[in-house]
Amino acid sequence: YHVDWDASAAEKGGYDYFMLKEIVEQPRAIADTLLGRLSVGGELTLDEMRLSAQDLRSVEKIVIIACGTSYHAGLIAKYAIEHWCRIPCEVEVASEFRYRDPILDRQTLVIAISQSGESMDTLMAVRYAREQRAKVLAICNVNGSTIPRESDGVLYTHAGPEVGVAATKTFLTQLAACYLIGLYLAQVRGLKFGDEIDAVIAQLATMPEHVEKVLDTVGPVRELARSLSDADTVLFLGRHVGYPVAMEGALKLKELAYMHAEAFAAGELKHGPIALIEEGLPVVVVVPSPQGRSVLHDKIVSNIQEVRARGARTIVIAEEGDESVRPYSDVLIEIPAVPTLLQPIVATVPMQVFACELALAKGNDVDQPRNLAKSVTVE
Ligand code: AGP
Repeated sequence: YHVDWDASAAEKGGYDYFMLKEIVEQPRAIADTLLGRLSVGGELTLDEMRLSAQDLRSVEKIVIIACGTSYHAGLIAKYAIEHWCRIPCEVEVASEFRYRDPILDRQTLVIAISQSGESMDTLMAVRYAREQRAKVLAICNVNGSTIPRESDGVLYTHAGPEVGVAATKTFLTQLAACYLIGLYLAQVRGLKFGDEIDAVIAQLATMPEHVEKVLDTVGPVRELARSLSDADTVLFLGRHVGYPVAMEGALKLKELAYMHAEAFAAGELKHGPIALIEEGLPVVVVVPSPQGRSVLHDKIVSNIQEVRARGARTIVIAEEGDESVRPYSDVLIEIPAVPTLLQPIVATVPMQVFACELALAKGNDVDQPRNLAKSVTVE
């Protein structure tokens, strides 16, 4: 009797690629980010951050700096922080930050998001921000890495090691960490924990189950990806927090499948990009929840109709039970109903699977895409 076994297969937990293992690990990774920090119906505990409640109360402006996927987490964090805390928040790619003479002072909180804690662009931006006397809080996955060591405070994501070059579980855990920080800022600043915030805290605690559910239902996404392996281009549309999710979907496709992929804010379509739509072009659309912000929802449904009328093949990611999108979807991918601000955690997963599967169908190595390194330690 012969069993194929080698150390590398064991490390990958029986999967052919680390990326597949890391996608599947996401529910546990998110649970680990939340562990000990979030108690439903109670207070958030983030004392470990090394920033005092007094430091956080005096913050007048937040600037988030990061690169690549971590930058997309920052874009999503902005929506949550501004909505919950009413603190103005800017987000910038770290490589641009210090070259534009940004306005920073002691009342500015800079949040540096970096999985590795070693991205040189982010590190240089952190050093610059501290020289300008801003307080720097790092969100990082690698314990003891350079960016958290050089920051005033840190919140670790505890996603465990990520070997695949493409960020997957570390992105979802960065989102969880950003939500924790937004909710904690609201808490220490004494902002009213109305029903919405209580509901969000309760929902955040259930995100691991929701992600599990998405993973259980992504089979059709894999088939779809294989059927599109000859496409030249894929477009991604989103609005509100769905826009950075669309950007993340496009980035995953570029880095893994080496395909042209581009994301647009759906409202921008009519200002130019709609000219790109032609017969058969795959367009992935992230649809906001029909609950609450229904204006945005209805607007994106019109966008789906517009691109479909011009021949696009529409791949629609929408909340389960959202029947209004079905007539305009060539492929409908359903995700669990969660509060709008948390939707990126569930909406990103089908995009990761899509890019990974498409890249595999093309015969690419999804753990080691060409020309890329896991951490970019040059500027
Ligand atoms: C993500 O899939 C990429 N590999 C890349 O964009 C990455 O997110 C970026 O280089 C930032 O890395 P960091 O989070 O380690 O700083």
